[in-house]
Amino acid sequence: RKHELYEKYVKNMTLEDKIGQLLQLAAPFFEGADDGEITGPMEELGIGPETARLAGSALGLSGAEKVIAVQQAHLAQDKHGIPLLFMADIVHGFKTIYPIPLAIGCSWNPELAKRSAQAAAREAAVSGVHVTFAPMVDLVRDPRWGRVMESTGEDPYLNSVFARAFVDGFQGGDLKNDMERVASCVKHFAAYGLAEGGRDYNTVDLSERQLREYYLPSYKAAIDAGCEMVMTSFNTVDGIPASGSRKLMRGILREEWGFDGVLISDWAAIREMIAHGAAEDDRDAAFKAIQSGVDIEMMTPCYVHHLPGLVREGLVDEALIDEAVLRILCLKDKLGLFENPYRGADPAKEEAIICCEEHMEVSRRLAEESCVLLKNNGVLPLGKKQKVALIGPFGDSGDILGFWSWQGSKETAVKLAAAMQATSESPELVTAAQGCGIHNISEEQLADAVRIAEDADVLVLALGEESEMSGEAGSRSDIRLPEAQLKLIGRLKELGKPMAAVLFNGRPLDLHGVYDIADAVLEAWFPGSQGGAALANLLYGNVNPSGKLSMSFPYTTGQIPVYYNHFNTGRPKPAEPTDNRYISQYLDIPNEPLLPFGFGLSYTEFAYDGLKLMADTMSPDSPLEIRATVTNKGAVAGTETVQLYVRDVSGEVVRPVKELKDFIRIELQAGESREISFTLSESQLRYHHSDLSIGSDPGEFRIYVGPDSRNTLEAAFHLLAQV
Ligand code: IFM
Repeated sequence: RKHELYEKYVKNMTLEDKIGQLLQLAAPFFEGADDGEITGPMEELGIGPETARLAGSALGLSGAEKVIAVQQAHLAQDKHGIPLLFMADIVHGFKTIYPIPLAIGCSWNPELAKRSAQAAAREAAVSGVHVTFAPMVDLVRDPRWGRVMESTGEDPYLNSVFARAFVDGFQGGDLKNDMERVASCVKHFAAYGLAEGGRDYNTVDLSERQLREYYLPSYKAAIDAGCEMVMTSFNTVDGIPASGSRKLMRGILREEWGFDGVLISDWAAIREMIAHGAAEDDRDAAFKAIQSGVDIEMMTPCYVHHLPGLVREGLVDEALIDEAVLRILCLKDKLGLFENPYRGADPAKEEAIICCEEHMEVSRRLAEESCVLLKNNGVLPLGKKQKVALIGPFGDSGDILGFWSWQGSKETAVKLAAAMQATSESPELVTAAQGCGIHNISEEQLADAVRIAEDADVLVLALGEESEMSGEAGSRSDIRLPEAQLKLIGRLKELGKPMAAVLFNGRPLDLHGVYDIADAVLEAWFPGSQGGAALANLLYGNVNPSGKLSMSFPYTTGQIPVYYNHFNTGRPKPAEPTDNRYISQYLDIPNEPLLPFGFGLSYTEFAYDGLKLMADTMSPDSPLEIRATVTNKGAVAGTETVQLYVRDVSGEVVRPVKELKDFIRIELQAGESREISFTLSESQLRYHHSDLSIGSDPGEFRIYVGPDSRNTLEAAFHLLAQV
């Protein structure tokens, strides 16, 4: 097919036409389509209408009628009849908004995540979108970074599971004929999640071994799932901006992994090589990016202005341009655009599909499964006859969609107050007061809150970060709740009433001032369009919480980065208190996070026992079966995620104290017990050695099975060498 496309199009295109295909411009550049979301520094691009007409793809444009009109106008003037590609950030929903990806990670339910991606693809596709800039699969360990909300968390295995699920959901198996799917663009390659100090766009520096062991697997999983596109990251890796890194792009991505799809820069990332100090000017940046294999330049004009000259002067081989154009044309072809340039765009379907009941149902279910019960002294679930004072800036707020929900409607999002009123026995039983703003509090607000609190049986506080406090460029150095909200909690605590806090936020927070004070804490994240309904179901016990953290909650900011799969050090802190000063510890805080990876409570209690390894040894050709029994000891049914961790006690390279290898979600009725079984094979014990080769080390291993990464049953086995 490549050959046909070459013969039919590329061969007949001028150099300028070809380079035009490598340019992506945002909506405002296209006639009659000026409502795109501008996320980068919108500087003077120096792109006139003649050049804009050559652009091969559009960013952030949607709406069936508009897309059809823009495509029509484009085709009317494009001398080769090559349709435009329409790309957009459909990160956690199009108009039906699903919980933020970090929350979805906490569902540990890839099947439901896949359904959300499929539903998002459907809505976007009928609105004319062809490619989504998702999933974001950057591994994250620093909650100060606002973009942790876009990731599924801190674990390479869990992230890979979700990467596959999202790609499958967006793309399905047949993009050419299935007009209700979109192509997926995995991002941000590579290691953007390690931005120093959690400050967005900042330097990333790590060993190649670390990069390959922890940061690359989730991108690779997306590519192995057939993801059509990859986006470069803004950061440097080992001193080289990703968009100009031959090693990352041509080396790892293309040659090692065999990725032959489209590689797009992030917004302005090619030109930003100049600010990084890795390119002298636009021309130099263009040279480096094309040499590195970046096909599309997003929103800067380095390629269109300088590649023609670089080719004519013999500095860039025209074959590189042809190769990039062909990759873009192949994607257009895979999407069926040459046969039908309007693809799924269909105003009638928009009416029928967007925000339909089925999608809203997936959104609600996913929100119910994503919220994590962090603490409960018995105040939850609420009784439906209880008088509840719902206090806080999120009680009656539609700002529950989270960042990257540009098409979502805050106005129609299901708010907590209304949903609780509808779920309690009678609406008058739930009264609401704002109590404070996100950042400020007045005496009047406080007085109102105290007044309704005094009259209630139980207080539910709806607190958190507004959505702009996380997401891109949403880094924070202090990740506690804003002072005004802490003041509100303190004042209400004086009333001595039972108190539950519901938290809306895009990152793990430092929970001082909440966790230590409230009787219950329910982490809602940004739960999406159906957030209020899902939360009301959880708060009143219609649904039993089952979410488990996919990212640790630090004890305090000074502990960051804190993650479960760390090394032990040569002087690990003993479990028992010690007088020994010379151990790896903080003098003022614990080493352990407040709440570990994998943690989440339920309204019932699950007991673990009977961990059994079905053999003492494992060999490369005989996997090990691991069994354990989980019992629901409470009075209600619940869903538990049983987690399997491994430790390689002595490796050629030091191995983490625990590494997630598998998990199973089970539903148990009250009183029910079930023996679960995992099969672990030698391939799951392999890792990158010091010479970057991949293999396992024979010797002693530990197995841990439990409800989270901290509280586990333990056993040991021996891995035998290959004979
Ligand atoms: O897809 C995004 C990316 O994640 C951050 N910069 C802008 C891109 C396009 O909107």
